Amino acid sequence: MDDLLRETLQAMPKAELHIHIEGSLEPELIFLLAKRNNVVLPYPSVEDLRRAYAFEDLQSFLDIYYAGASVLLTEQDFYDMTWAYLRRAAADNVRHAEIFFDPQTHTARGVKFSAVIDGIDRALHDAREQLGISGALIMCFLRHLSEQDAFDVLEQALPHRAKFIGVGLDSSEKGHPPEKFTRVFARCKEAGLRLVAHAGEEGPPAYIQTALDRLNVERIDHGVRCLEDPALTQRLARERIPLTVCPLSNIKLRVFDRMPDHNLLKLLDAGIVVTINSDDPAYFGGYINANFVAAFEALPLQRQHAYQLARNGFDASFLDSGTKQRYLDQVDAFFTSETNRA
Ligand code: ADE
Ligand code: ZN
Repeated sequence: MDDLLRETLQAMPKAELHIHIEGSLEPELIFLLAKRNNVVLPYPSVEDLRRAYAFEDLQSFLDIYYAGASVLLTEQDFYDMTWAYLRRAAADNVRHAEIFFDPQTHTARGVKFSAVIDGIDRALHDAREQLGISGALIMCFLRHLSEQDAFDVLEQALPHRAKFIGVGLDSSEKGHPPEKFTRVFARCKEAGLRLVAHAGEEGPPAYIQTALDRLNVERIDHGVRCLEDPALTQRLARERIPLTVCPLSNIKLRVFDRMPDHNLLKLLDAGIVVTINSDDPAYFGGYINANFVAAFEALPLQRQHAYQLARNGFDASFLDSGTKQRYLDQVDAFFTSETNRA
């Protein structure tokens, strides 16, 4: 990849639509919060913790990810974590972020729902004012837990309805098909929430299908296994259902062996609205720009793909149409001025 394309990837305005805020917790911050909160970690040092980041699959990652999140106790902890992510994202020229959070991971440890959402929400406000980055929250249900658990957390969440725009579905995919949460998602839709779900990361294409047909989701997180089903692939393209793809995550969790094997370009060529995202950047070796660079280095992706991917990020967002158009105009202006420079 030439230097100009690399600079373009770094400098172009971006939206990030698939980032788990708990997955942005860097080992240094985990240790700082552990000390502040007197939490004993099963790792003696930052280096030992980092060394444990060698994953075999999604579950082996989730075990460490939930252990890392155990240091989060106070509203200030959630603020500090979110603020650190937003500063890092702004440095990568992210202009808008739709951020997942996993409240059940915290309420199960006795943390109040309000501490979680108020800390994150306060950081989003400060980032809008101080960093010029807009943000919105998507609350994820943990799919390895029961439907009743999901209803319980939804009840705790609804008094805070103004602080989040949508709901998602994450955690262990295999054996936990989307349809387990059909009634929960129906209730969320009634509440006017936007709907997304992880599907087709490790799980089969059938889970993408049921996420669409039973949960009525508007975007699929990951979704890379859709290519195993040509009719589903055509449907995603025809109905313009975006996929939030996370290249470094897919390599670290062994969805693909190596980046040159990633199907990102095939998804684009199939006409799907693909976006690039970081998933759990503290665990997978990089934030959004690192994901762009890794994919573009390994695959025959060109400048027109960078333009398309930057546009897709904003297009697939849940921003209102006027704001979306303003961001899309910023992308167009960036690429026009760059063309003149090249
Ligand atoms: N939680 C955090 N990251 C996840 C991922 N990639 N898949 C499912 N659940 C997650
Ligand atoms: Zn994810």
